[in-house]
Amino acid sequence: MSVYAAITGWGMGVPVKIVTNDDIAKIVDTSDEWIQTRTGIRERRIISGSESTSTLASAAGRDAMQMAGVTPADIDMVIVATFTPDRPLPATACQVQAALGLNRAAAFDIAAACSGFVYGLTVATSLIQTGMAKRILLCAVDVLSHVVNWQDRNTCVLFGDGAGAVVLEATDQPYGLLSAVLGADGRREDLLMIEAGGTCMPLRDDPHDTRRYLTMNGREVFKLAVRGMEESSLSALAKANMTLDQIDLVVPHQANRRIIEAIAERLNLPIERFFINLDRYGNTSAGTIPIALTEAAASGALKQDDYVLLTAFGGGLTWGSAVIRWGKPS
Ligand code: UT7
Repeated sequence: MSVYAAITGWGMGVPVKIVTNDDIAKIVDTSDEWIQTRTGIRERRIISGSESTSTLASAAGRDAMQMAGVTPADIDMVIVATFTPDRPLPATACQVQAALGLNRAAAFDIAAACSGFVYGLTVATSLIQTGMAKRILLCAVDVLSHVVNWQDRNTCVLFGDGAGAVVLEATDQPYGLLSAVLGADGRREDLLMIEAGGTCMPLRDDPHDTRRYLTMNGREVFKLAVRGMEESSLSALAKANMTLDQIDLVVPHQANRRIIEAIAERLNLPIERFFINLDRYGNTSAGTIPIALTEAAASGALKQDDYVLLTAFGGGLTWGSAVIRWGKPS
């Protein structure tokens, strides 16, 4: 039985259309200065034309498979982490499966909001470790532009659309996920939720019903996110029998630059050890970490054999941190 699941390919898929802070300031009472100072975000990508959750995920998945050098017939499973699917039925993973011709692959979605990539990486690695699959395509994607209220300045300035993907392959060498810590607290669902659109509150045919949109208690989520990511990061490190000085790069969920700075301070790590690209994409929920990994690898900030700490926090509430070893087994 193989013990590890190496990340052998990676990729990203983001919409063509760029929406700047100045563009949003034409819709709600905000400013480029406020958004940059309070969040670090300068612009985000928003889907247009025929783009959707599955087209972004498929683009990311195609690149990841090409980098891994695998063909559609090699993929045993496709998992998509998202809470903004193309449709309620089928799972977005089925649409990605069809788009990429992964005809042998089982397909299912995971809904863990911003923690979706860390949850997905843990599930996919476990499936490889049990022998259920040898090669898995994991996509993490969200299209927040469809669920934010574009009249609510508290939320609409924060989010964007985007996807990232990785290919995981069985190996007996210590690559990929080395440890993970996942958590959730469903009692605090009210802090970050979309109230209507499910079975307990079906959508009414009323365009003014704002319960279809994402709402968030920003200040409270900020505090819990800093604490949750700090604590789960330290737990994941302890579980891997590693210390922070062995970590080459931290790739955190990209929600707010101030959250990342607060975590850096609490962990007593220089901010340069964190990869940050939220200035160009905003918060793409499940998409942030694999998009950041892809850009970090392309820029040289992330190299073969590096030890990386991933940490995420979001709706649910959910959180998760993981220690991974980057790159292909020799
Ligand atoms: O993906 C994981 C989930 N999400 C997060 O992790 C996000 C967590 N929260 C945050 O990032 C921050 O709390 C926000 C960016 C959402 C808000 O920043 P803040 O520093 O906590 O601001 P605040 O909510 O305390 O609001 C400060 C002021 C308020 O005005 P008053 O009451 O002081 O007069 C807001 O009405 O800023 C006002 N404000 C805005 N002003 C201009 C709120 N949003 C805006 C805006 N433009 N877009």
